[in-house]
Amino acid sequence: MDAIVVDQLTKTFPPNWPWKPSTTVLRGLSFSVRQGEIVGFLGPNGAGKTTTLKILIGLIRPTSGSVKLLGAPAGDVETHRRIGYLPESPYFYDYLTAEEFLRFYGRLAGMSGESLTHRVTLLLEMVGLKDARTKQLRKFSKGMLQRIGLAQALIHDPELVLLDEPMSGLDPIGRKEVRDLILQLRDQGKTVLFSSHIIPDVEMICDRVTVVVKGELLAAGRVEDLVGHGRTRSIEVICDGLPEHAAPAWHSTAIKMVRRGSQSLIVLPDTGLIDQVLVDIRNQGARLISVTPQKGSLEELFTGSHSRDQKPVDNTLVST
Ligand SMILES: Nc1ncnc2c1ncn2[C@@H]1O[C@H](COP(=O)(O)OP(=O)(O)OP(=O)(O)O)[C@@H](O)[C@H]1O
Ligand SMILES: [Mg+2]
Repeated sequence: MDAIVVDQLTKTFPPNWPWKPSTTVLRGLSFSVRQGEIVGFLGPNGAGKTTTLKILIGLIRPTSGSVKLLGAPAGDVETHRRIGYLPESPYFYDYLTAEEFLRFYGRLAGMSGESLTHRVTLLLEMVGLKDARTKQLRKFSKGMLQRIGLAQALIHDPELVLLDEPMSGLDPIGRKEVRDLILQLRDQGKTVLFSSHIIPDVEMICDRVTVVVKGELLAAGRVEDLVGHGRTRSIEVICDGLPEHAAPAWHSTAIKMVRRGSQSLIVLPDTGLIDQVLVDIRNQGARLISVTPQKGSLEELFTGSHSRDQKPVDNTLVST
């Protein structure tokens, strides 16, 4: 079942001044997120990620198109109780302590008593802020604020979690902790959609990614399917002891040949010559170290090296 369905979303902001043009931010964006999935919402600055998340949470209305969360339209009050949201720039009450802040949001979500106390303690531990329990938020570092924001998004144990740049402002250890936390949420059966432009973070933990550029869907699908489009782009062969002046027939076909000490790196354009290369390496008395198929990276996709005509869209995800 789909936890999120975004269908033909458009958003045009009116101009600030009558003589200025309006700004179209989303242009017919459609994608969906299945229940229990972690989906990365990837796109460069200004792509429309925050705008989409705000529409999902019901903070702003789309110009056209529709969204559904857990089967209900955006802004449905009952469904809201089942959704957690970390905004891009969360606002914090400076003079509250971490504990007071979470208790405040817990009470807003209808929690109280022992269960709230227990939940606050658990979350502070989960986001690594146990020792900062009684510290005022104004004394928090950027990374600590990001963590308390995450804890706030999870206070009511939501089944669908929308996170706008949850790793922003975190150091590498903090990023890993947040990645682990998101994986933990998946283990608990939650659905997570999180925006980011940190590609490795997305690659590492996501079941699927949705890539948006200039308010349009560029690609959606499993990371493995998107990168390299399921096909091998080149083959990298590393061997040791290939004589310096060896002149096998495939020299001119290789994309690259580099020597480092006694080792040679040979990059072949495809699998066509691989058998011949391996035979030659052995015949020349060299030792094979590795053969690695090279696939495209999410980064190439992200930076637009794939032409739009070739966009590798997984229709199972795009269909609504
Ligand atoms: N209220 C608004 N009025 C006019 N334009 C807006 C408004 N909100 C956002 N925009 C514009 O919409 C575009 C998309 O913004 P959005 O914040 O959704 O992008 P994003 O993908 O989240 O970017 P980032 O990675 O920088 O967070 C930007 O060009 C932004 O200037
Ligand atoms: Mg944003």
